[in-house]
Amino acid sequence: MIDLHDRVIAITGASRGLGAGIARAALAAGAQLALCSRGRAGLEASERVLTERLDVRDADAMRHFAREAFERFGRVDLWINNAGALEPVGPLIDIEPESFRALIETNVLGVAWGCRAYLRELRERDQRGVLLNISSGAARKAYRGWSGYCASKAAVDRLSEAIALEEAERVRVHSVAPGVIATAMQAAIREKSPREFPDVGRFIELEQRGALLEPEAAGAALLELAFDPDKRSDEVCIDVRD
Ligand SMILES: NC(=O)c1ccc[n+]([C@@H]2O[C@H](COP(=O)([O-])OP(=O)(O)OC[C@H]3O[C@@H](n4cnc5c(N)ncnc54)[C@H](OP(=O)(O)O)[C@@H]3O)[C@@H](O)[C@H]2O)c1
Repeated sequence: MIDLHDRVIAITGASRGLGAGIARAALAAGAQLALCSRGRAGLEASERVLTERLDVRDADAMRHFAREAFERFGRVDLWINNAGALEPVGPLIDIEPESFRALIETNVLGVAWGCRAYLRELRERDQRGVLLNISSGAARKAYRGWSGYCASKAAVDRLSEAIALEEAERVRVHSVAPGVIATAMQAAIREKSPREFPDVGRFIELEQRGALLEPEAAGAALLELAFDPDKRSDEVCIDVRD
């Protein structure tokens, strides 16, 4: 793992799963962290770790979190919009509008508000940074039962590409499909019925043959993409499996 002693990293959705895994990998490599989620952060608050409870759907709360992070550490070198949801799963014809709305608000608006908050702080301070939005293979491949999730992740890819054009002088932007990772979201996928999610068997099989990445290892790969010159890519949309 590369040395991150002089780095400051903000991560949304850091109470568990991939977000908490990135945070553990970054802390072990020496970084200072700003973490947010609705539930308690996966790491204890400390001199090196700022934690905040918020909902990414709240644009004002995101602005406040970004300001706090920059004021505490002086800069944020890397901002990761990781918070995301999968539910509701099932054919669109059976989905309730409110749950679909909540998914789109979390996965699309939450990422947009995170990007906006970070970009505004960079502009105010005339600083540069790296922005990683966590996408999914489902951005490029449709699955029955995942209409909202697929649509939301495709939106994250296009949003990221538009920002990369708008803010080329200020940020390097990537929208990253992080691979299949052993988190609560994957456990929830394996619990679905074939009626809700016809491809469920494929995900059960991936777990049975030990093909899932551990969150910390997946997190370390994302940190290398951001900071290791040898791992740097000119592409905005990246699938770590490629
Ligand atoms: N696991 C995989 O195989 C996989 C594959 C491809 C992409 N991804 C993507 O990776 C990201 C992380 O997924 P995961 O597997 O780690 O899922 P997870 O275990 O369900 O964790 C999701 C995280 O997002 C936070 N979150 C959800 N809604 C939020 C909201 N409205 N406001 C603030 N925080 C919110 C959760 O915290 P609170 O509930 O405490 O708020 C939690 O920390 C997601 O964007 C997901 O789509 C995962």
